[in-house]
Amino acid sequence: MTTQNGKTPWWKQGIIYQIYPRSFQDSNQDGVGDLPGITSRLDYLQWLGIDAIWLSPIFPSPMADFGYDVADYCDIHPLFGTLADFDTLLAEAHARGIKLLLDLVPNHTSNEHRWFLEARSSRDNSRRDWYIWRDAKPDGGPPNNWVSAFGGSAWEWDAVTGQYYLHSFLKEQPDLNYRNPEVIAAMQDVIRFWLDRGVDGFRVDVIDWMMKDSEFRDEADPYIRVYSAFRLEVHDIIRRFRQVFDEYPDRVMVGEVNYFGTPAYLAGLYGSKTETGSDMLDLPFNFRLILTPWFAADMREAVEAYEAGLPEHGWPNYVLGNHDQARLASRVGRSEARTAAMLLLTLRGTPFIYYGEEIGMENVPVPQEAVQDPYGINVPGMTRDPERTPMQWDNRPNAGFSTGGQTWLPVAADYQTVNVQVQRDDPRSMLALYLRLIALRRENAALRLGDYRSVTGEGIPPDCYVYLRIYGGERVCVALNFAANERELDLKNSGRVILSTQLDRTEPIVGKLKLRPHEGVIVALADL
Ligand code: NOJ
Repeated sequence: MTTQNGKTPWWKQGIIYQIYPRSFQDSNQDGVGDLPGITSRLDYLQWLGIDAIWLSPIFPSPMADFGYDVADYCDIHPLFGTLADFDTLLAEAHARGIKLLLDLVPNHTSNEHRWFLEARSSRDNSRRDWYIWRDAKPDGGPPNNWVSAFGGSAWEWDAVTGQYYLHSFLKEQPDLNYRNPEVIAAMQDVIRFWLDRGVDGFRVDVIDWMMKDSEFRDEADPYIRVYSAFRLEVHDIIRRFRQVFDEYPDRVMVGEVNYFGTPAYLAGLYGSKTETGSDMLDLPFNFRLILTPWFAADMREAVEAYEAGLPEHGWPNYVLGNHDQARLASRVGRSEARTAAMLLLTLRGTPFIYYGEEIGMENVPVPQEAVQDPYGINVPGMTRDPERTPMQWDNRPNAGFSTGGQTWLPVAADYQTVNVQVQRDDPRSMLALYLRLIALRRENAALRLGDYRSVTGEGIPPDCYVYLRIYGGERVCVALNFAANERELDLKNSGRVILSTQLDRTEPIVGKLKLRPHEGVIVALADL
């Protein structure tokens, strides 16, 4: 739990807020968000009380996958601003005590990255082997049956050099070859470039896709990746990245990993314990709660299986939403989204909040002919546009996101009522709830750092999820009603309700606790 100097690292205590830069705040009327826009909203983030922001990619890119196709790892896309704008954002964030994480996309580059342009120029180019090239099968077909995560074969024919190249995502996103040590060194330099500039860490995109089977064997089922991703050989590459992080104090390495990874698989990605923490990832994303049906027993089991699988030095984390997943309120329901917020911010582990969840933003429908997301264009129904729409700040046109005419994705129809300005003035709003939960977590060591223990059995209805957070003599009880009806619980303890998801009660309790439909409460238990 503690580092060498005896302090708990900031990222174990803190809350990380994800910004999708295209959609947070536009400052130059082009309908797309940018870095000066984010800087202008830092006061809001400081007020909200989060500790760090993670920005989805802001680097030069043809935007085939909205920035996850990087054409230059060490610069800023003009759409978002300049390196000077970035330095200002970083300095202003730090001045407010807010850390900043960037998004590293090492598995693939853009097909417009100069490395790839060189590699595809001829078979004997010195960078040829930086990517993954294979000959056609005798019948001219692709070398194996691997599929792209975005639909179709993972192989694209290059007529100029007469070979196929691998792309695990779009054909505009060729995979780098991490069996080549020069590629590892190049990516280590990228990490250094930004850590030298002062960033506090990285979220690393699809980190467990970086190694592929050396024999390129066919998958038995192309949709169950055994050879094309999730290979344990990738641990060595992650360790090599980690070594660079360890050249700097206090930086965090978060990894986007297999959504379906078992607890044991996730445990492996924490690597071994070192003096500074771990020799691999600090926080391999835990997406389990996104995939778990919204029932008390399922949630409890998901949390407990995850907790039980963590290595001794592994710090947990929880994610309920991001730029690839339907909005929380659209997934679980509006009232349930309040209970979910309480769950996220009271479990043991670093919570990640996706921008806009704090005001209960919902999926915004985008008609198929207007879809922007390449995944949604390739595979109708799979668009991620609905969860990437402009942040709703106030009731001005474009919800205060942009004073330009057309925004890159539509603004939600309900923005006049669902926005920061309206909710700031409403003491019962979703924003008011997030504000209280965040503040409570900051001030309460049990919620921040305490042990987790669930409470089950007599007195606890099966559709309620109840757990304790315990730190020294301090005990906090979280009781969440997953039912659409009232429930009565017997906590067999006295204490005081300090927060309800409905923000309308704080009262002493003696054992019995009534919860309204979908209500969650936090109870400070009396001393033992
Ligand atoms: C995962 C990212 O979260 C997603 O948005 C992106 O499309 C793929 N990786 C490819 O980089």
